[in-house]
Amino acid sequence: MNQEEIEQRLWQNLHKWSLQKKTMNPEALRMAGVDVQQRREKDDFYPTPPAATQALLDREKFDGQIYECACGDGAMSEVLIENGYDVYSSDLINRGYGETGIDFLKTEKPFDNIITNPPFKLGPDFVLHSFKLARKKIAFFGKLNFLEGQRRRKKIFNLKKLKKVYVFSGRVSFTKRGATKSAGGLISFAWYVFDQNYNGLPQIDWI
Ligand SMILES: C[S@@+](CC[C@H](N)C(=O)[O-])C[C@H]1O[C@@H](n2cnc3c(N)ncnc32)[C@H](O)[C@@H]1O
Repeated sequence: MNQEEIEQRLWQNLHKWSLQKKTMNPEALRMAGVDVQQRREKDDFYPTPPAATQALLDREKFDGQIYECACGDGAMSEVLIENGYDVYSSDLINRGYGETGIDFLKTEKPFDNIITNPPFKLGPDFVLHSFKLARKKIAFFGKLNFLEGQRRRKKIFNLKKLKKVYVFSGRVSFTKRGATKSAGGLISFAWYVFDQNYNGLPQIDWI
């Protein structure tokens, strides 16, 4: 059983337990990557709350153009643009924003910086591909437990490009477009900032 399968199994057990106890929100579990009755959002579409993107931009500056390579409906791109950045946006799926039909993992064009909230299941692949394309910084919004895992340690963290981890001290709640009720709040999230010119251990800070 690999790391992802173990994580999935743990969450499923936790989910069964929590439903019995009626304490956990199934929508939040789906966002965490748990396949609850096969109802996980197709292609992992969960728009990032604007405040989460702004929290990154209040702490980090990016020099040059930014590529939002899984832009969804532009929730993150729009905040980047409002902050004065030159942003190119694309997504595999047409969600009415940016260039569509682009599988980031097959792209070859270099960019100064890459910032996104990748599909949860492809997070490590997105990071590794970004290492090939970005000239400067890479910032990924993801689950805090992205830090775990021997394979990730070997393939990603041992490269010593991870410079900063900004942990959300409060839980981040996602609201699906058109929904009135927010979901989430169960999972811990963080911003991971990699720097192609860095070679050292990461610093940790809290948002
Ligand atoms: C968690 S959502 C985040 C959307 C947006 N980045 C945001 O923060 O609001 C992940 C997005 O990744 C897109 N996606 C999934 N696989 C992809 C791929 N191989 N290449 C590019 N985009 C992909 C999905 O269509 C979805 O819009």
